This record gives sequence, C-alpha cells and structure tokens, in this order.
Amino acid sequence: MSAEREPIGVIGTGYVGLVTAVGFADLGSEVFCVDVDSEKVARLQAGQVPIYEPGLDELLARNSERLHFSTELAPALQNARLLFVAVGTPPTHSGDADLSAVHAVVESMPAPDGHALVMKSTVPCGTGANIRRIFNENGKSAYSYVSCPEFLKEGSALSDFTHPDRVVVGGEGDWAEQAVVDLYEPLGAPLVRTDVASAEMIKLAANAFLATKISFINEIANVCEQLGADVVEVARGMGLDARIGPKFLQAGIGYGGSCFTKDVSALKLLAGNSGYHFQLLNAVIEVNELQKRRVVSKLVRHLGELAGKRIALLGLAFKPNTDDMRGASSLVLAARLQAEGAHVKAYDPIAEEQARSLMPQLDYADCASNAIDGADAVILVTEWEEFLKLEWSEVARAMRGTLVIDGRNALDGNAVRAAGLIYEGIGRR
Ligand code: UGA
Repeated sequence: MSAEREPIGVIGTGYVGLVTAVGFADLGSEVFCVDVDSEKVARLQAGQVPIYEPGLDELLARNSERLHFSTELAPALQNARLLFVAVGTPPTHSGDADLSAVHAVVESMPAPDGHALVMKSTVPCGTGANIRRIFNENGKSAYSYVSCPEFLKEGSALSDFTHPDRVVVGGEGDWAEQAVVDLYEPLGAPLVRTDVASAEMIKLAANAFLATKISFINEIANVCEQLGADVVEVARGMGLDARIGPKFLQAGIGYGGSCFTKDVSALKLLAGNSGYHFQLLNAVIEVNELQKRRVVSKLVRHLGELAGKRIALLGLAFKPNTDDMRGASSLVLAARLQAEGAHVKAYDPIAEEQARSLMPQLDYADCASNAIDGADAVILVTEWEEFLKLEWSEVARAMRGTLVIDGRNALDGNAVRAAGLIYEGIGRR
C-alpha cells in the first residue's frame, strides 16, 4: 500500500500537524515534517512526543520509518507535492486570528514547481483568496491551494483522524484538490467537496455552533436551578429529538480550550469586519465567561465568606485526557477563589506542569486524596476517570467540611450523598 500512497509534507508539528502526520504515515504515506522549533524536532527525531495525546507515541513509534522530521523545508519540497500547513493561528489582542505564521509559510515557498498548500490551520474565511492573490502577485501562480479544515478533538485525536464525521476539501478544482480527496479516501468518511471560502467557513461555523450548544444548555441549567428541574433529564429529553441530537448538551462550568474561545471570537470579528453584527455569538461568549464563575456563588451559599476556606480543585485541564490548559475554566475559577481569600489546593493527573507555568501561585497536590485532605469543599473541575471512581466515604473522612460541587455533572450524586456529603451539580435538582 505504501508504494502507491502520495507522500506529504506537514509544516508545523503542533497538535494538529503531528496527529495529521502520524495518521497519514499509518495509512502508508511517507511524511516529511517541518518545524522551526529545533528542540522539538530533535525530540521527535528521537521518537519522543512533545504533547500528551493518548496513543500518539505508540503510533509514532510504529511508523517511525515513514516519518521524517526537519527544521528545513527542503526535504518536504523535494519529496512531496502536497504541503499540509498546521501552524498556530492564536488570537491577537483584537481577537482576530494572528496569521503571521501562515504568512511566513506562504513567503517561504520557493518559485513554483507544482506544489500545493493544504491549509489545516483554522483561518478566517477569505484567507485562501488572500493567499491566492499573494501567490499570483509574486510569480507563484502555479501553486495550488486547498482548504482542508481539521475537526479533531484533543484527547481523542487519533480516533477522530481515523473515523471523521466528514472530510471537508475546499479547492480550485485542480490536481491538488483531487490528490487530497484521494489521500482521505481509505477512511471512507462522507466527503464535502466544495470551494475554498465555504470550506473555511464550515470550520468556523461548526466550532461556533458547538460552543452555542454548550452555552445554551448552560443557560438551561441555570434556569433549572431556579425552577427545580434537572438539566441532565432535560438534556436527555431534548437530545432524543433527532434534529437536536444528544451530544454537546453536557452542562458544566463552561467550555475551555484554545479552539472554541478563539474561533467564536474570530468569527464574531470576521462578521463585524465584513459589516455584519453577529449578535448571538456575543451571548455565547458572555454566558461562558459567567459560567466559569458560577461555582463561587454556590460555595458562598454553603460556606459563607470564602476567606480562609480550604477548597480542593480536582482537575485543571480544559477537559480530560489532555494536558492542555489553554482557556481552561480552572484558570478563572482558581483566580476568583484566591481573590476571595480562599486557600486553593489543586490536583490534575497530567496537566500540572502546564498549570504551574500559568498559575505558579497555586498549591499543587500530588494526588487527589492529598488535595482533598482537610478541604472545606471539593470541586470537580475536569472529569478525569480517576475522580469518577473516588471512594466517597474515604473522601468524607478526609475532608474538614461536607460540600462537593460537581462542575461537570459527572459524579454519582447519590453515592456522594450516601457518604454524608452535600452534592451540588450544575443545574441538578
Ligand atoms: C473542538 C472541536 O470539538 C473539534 O471538532 C475541533 O477540531 C477543535 O475544537 C479545534 O478547532 O481544533 P476541543 O477543543 O479539543 O475540540 O475540545 P471539545 O471536546 O470540543 O471540548 C471543548 C470544551 O467544551 C471542553 O472544555 C469541554 O469540557 C466543553 N464541553 C464539551 C462542555 O462543557 N459540554 C459539552 O457538552 C461538550
């Protein structure tokens, strides 16, 4: 199989680039990865994976012969026609996407000789048209351009690569568009073959819609608390309607991560810059910001003033199975609690190192029981598997107080109560 597979280049070995590279290598392609970070390249050459993603190190090891890493563009240019671009597009101070890394790649492309840029990075709608203009103005009109947005989720990225809900390929109707379609063909996923601008918009609209779904169910949860309904029951009843669907209706203390926060804001500004005021997204963002703080009022209701109270945070990462702290709700929550004078002790099985760099002032525990020991209240922030298996009678013995706040509605409330503790979820009866 490998002899027939198109070799590819992957520029940027961050999260998306590395998963794409390893995924295509596993399908049989020779993959030539490029990164400006020489330390990262050296680690990858030594077979070390610089990020935490379940299964990635095994798959990298299994395909090591097909994976090549370099700080130079030359091997990718020599060996591959398709150059996947997976560089960072972080938000600027204005909330727009910072495209400087994308433009650095575009500028680094040598005179045309039959290559194509395949954009994996999330970019504003219109970026492809802009790059096409830059190529044309610089005597590089022979370059092809394809938008192939990425939909993988951190923590389940490899299975998302292998079993995508759909593959979106936006192109200019040339060889490169077909070559990308052929690369994905063995996955057997539904294909959306479209123009570049629509492909770019699909990515932004999908993330904005998912974030909207979460903010919507969080508002329903908040109303449930006022009216005595249970949001888990409400979400179950809503989700069985095939038009709504059960996914992304899990109420909690807000969405985090780099993508939703960045992309919702980028789409809002993109719309604004084009003359359209995207009102709904303002509410989505504001609801999410307030949701991260809701736990504080729950604590005050039970404990009174928080100064001097000992609060245990279970989990810090923006979701389980990742060490990613970008946009994590824990950042806002921990800062709010400390501002109220509480003593915060936190434990995360994987994200501690990342968390320490962002919150050096926090007290870190080396295990869940260490964090819980002597706490007035325990808050589940990230639903790591190990927290769902806690022995609540032991937790009750170790705590000084009795309050457990389930920020992800992931715990068995009856088991917590059976241990003599007070259970508070988000929007639970
Ligand atoms: C998200 C999208 O789901 C991916 O499809 C997309 O490719 C990616 O962004 C991206 O643009 O790169 P990701 O940020 O990895 O993926 O994480 P999600 O699993 O979507 O979760 C995001 C946040 O929403 C987490 O904090 C999670 O706890 C929260 N969430 C999710 C809820 O609060 N409720 C839910 O029902 C679902």
